[in-house]
Amino acid sequence: CGIVGYIGHRNAWPIIIKGLKRLEYRGYDSAGVALIDNKNLNIYKKAGKVQVLEDYAADQNLNGNIGMGHTRWATHGAPSDRNSHPHTSNNKRFSIIHNGIIENYATLKEELIRRGHTFESDTDTEVLIHLIEEIYKNESVELFEAVRLALKEVNGAYAIVIMDSEQPDQLIAARKGSPMVIGVGEGEYFIASDATPIIEYTNNVIYLNDNEVAQVKTDSLIIKRLDNVIQTPYIQELELQLEMLEKGGYDHFMLKEIYEQPRSIRDCMRGRIYPSEGKVQLGGIKEYAEKLKNIDRIIIVACGTSWHAGLVGEYLIEEYARIPVEVEYASEFRYRNPIITEKDVVIAISQSGETADTMAALEMAKEKGATLFGVCNVVGASIPRITDAGVYTHAGPEIGVASTKAFTAQVTVLTLMAFYMAQQKGTISKSKMVELLTELDQIPSKIEKVLESDNLIKEISEKFFNARNFLFLGRGSGFPVALEGALKLKEISYIHAEGYPAAEMKHGPIALIDEEMPVVFIATKNSSYEKVISNIQEVKARKGVVIAIVTAGDTEVRKMADYCIEIPDANEAFLPLLATIPLQLLSYHIALLRGCNVDQPRNLAKSVTVE
Ligand code: G6P
Repeated sequence: CGIVGYIGHRNAWPIIIKGLKRLEYRGYDSAGVALIDNKNLNIYKKAGKVQVLEDYAADQNLNGNIGMGHTRWATHGAPSDRNSHPHTSNNKRFSIIHNGIIENYATLKEELIRRGHTFESDTDTEVLIHLIEEIYKNESVELFEAVRLALKEVNGAYAIVIMDSEQPDQLIAARKGSPMVIGVGEGEYFIASDATPIIEYTNNVIYLNDNEVAQVKTDSLIIKRLDNVIQTPYIQELELQLEMLEKGGYDHFMLKEIYEQPRSIRDCMRGRIYPSEGKVQLGGIKEYAEKLKNIDRIIIVACGTSWHAGLVGEYLIEEYARIPVEVEYASEFRYRNPIITEKDVVIAISQSGETADTMAALEMAKEKGATLFGVCNVVGASIPRITDAGVYTHAGPEIGVASTKAFTAQVTVLTLMAFYMAQQKGTISKSKMVELLTELDQIPSKIEKVLESDNLIKEISEKFFNARNFLFLGRGSGFPVALEGALKLKEISYIHAEGYPAAEMKHGPIALIDEEMPVVFIATKNSSYEKVISNIQEVKARKGVVIAIVTAGDTEVRKMADYCIEIPDANEAFLPLLATIPLQLLSYHIALLRGCNVDQPRNLAKSVTVE
């Protein structure tokens, strides 16, 4: 979910609405805003997108120099007007917006009902504001203190903002496990889940830490920890620029982000590779250079697309650095009582740096003494802060919910990490490094070449946009590419798609193949080329339709496949960076042809801060 708050001299409404639109990628089931005008609390909320709310509220009283808004990704309670945030206390004086989950809400709710509270929604959030009201009344403390005391009774994750219509000179904010940034203006403050709604007003921000509560007034800011210790706010300057958050002439953020990849990968490698010297430098993990020589095992934890990047990482690290790697879904790993020792290095991959399951997996690994590395895109997010070291992907903000440039930047960083580890361990020769890095340096221009196939891919999409199923097959590092291709298509076009290792097809998916079934093969010229060709024949023998990603100039596959998309020849190590691009474009065009919302697919959210 996304949250925005404002207190200052301007009208809060336009700031909040614009901010919510910027945060919409975090969830878009419903949206709501609360404003205080002369001690009157006005709340507008609607199921659906922020635009629905904006239209609905257009002719209402939108005055107020203090307010807050929320865009929701439903957890407790279906998306509806009633379950949308803000929620209010029993006496309707206090209001709250919340991102996260209150785990013990059911017990708290029972107790509050016994004390005469009545609830209007099914949400855990409403319980929290009633609890705060109860403490405020019973303990006769300031609101700031009541919130602190209430949060001590709560289990779970949250980023919250609270208002009191009787005291319109303050916002109370708090976080635990869910991100929150406070923008510092002149006589005004902005609060948001990330810096994107704030950037147009100020560059100065404070990242609230876990277990901190803030009292925000136009002329003062006090931050306390839950244990009542006052904290000194640390103001940081943002490096984000506004243009990075705009579509820049493209129809969709996703398309813009696909096209940005030559640049984002260059940015990601800048200052890190020295092809002529055959050297990789990774400042973020250099303190661990010695340790890397002797580690027994690496565990990669991630979710979604980032997990696919992890699979590519496994392939590369094992190939070049000869260190055993395990790749785990964070959500499974954290609940499995896994064996972790102080000798392990755990690498978390996460675009947002906020994914709850990945974060929890790290917390567990930390307790067991492992060294933690992060591979994240959002600077200063929770994962980069909990890890001992890490390498940022520097892909720039990714707004499209389906990950594209963040994935290729993750793969780039993991490639660099594999080479760096190999360099430390001496498992790679200087001349081989020169050769590999020289080629890696060329990858952005090769991606430019791949992007030239956009029209061809669009034509292919026109043939298949009505398909009900898709199969994606690859071997070696082409296998995670197949998984990612299938996930992209599922996410944005709602066509059922499966990614599979090409050789495993005969143990199951082959039963699905008939003339209706498009099968996308990663069939480039590398070590498994011949074997993939046999798999293509198996599909053709069953009348399947084959779309193949092939190496430029290929003639063999062309004889068998129905459609071919060429990518430039490259070392197998770099295949995922090139072969993923046409699959991103394929899913983009198919989704468009099906009339889907490409940037904000149904039911998904970009940053999943709940487990
Ligand atoms: C969500 C997004 C995916 C993303 C996954 C992991 O499901 O929709 O695109 O891959 O979370 O996110 P992370 O920020 O940890 O990479």
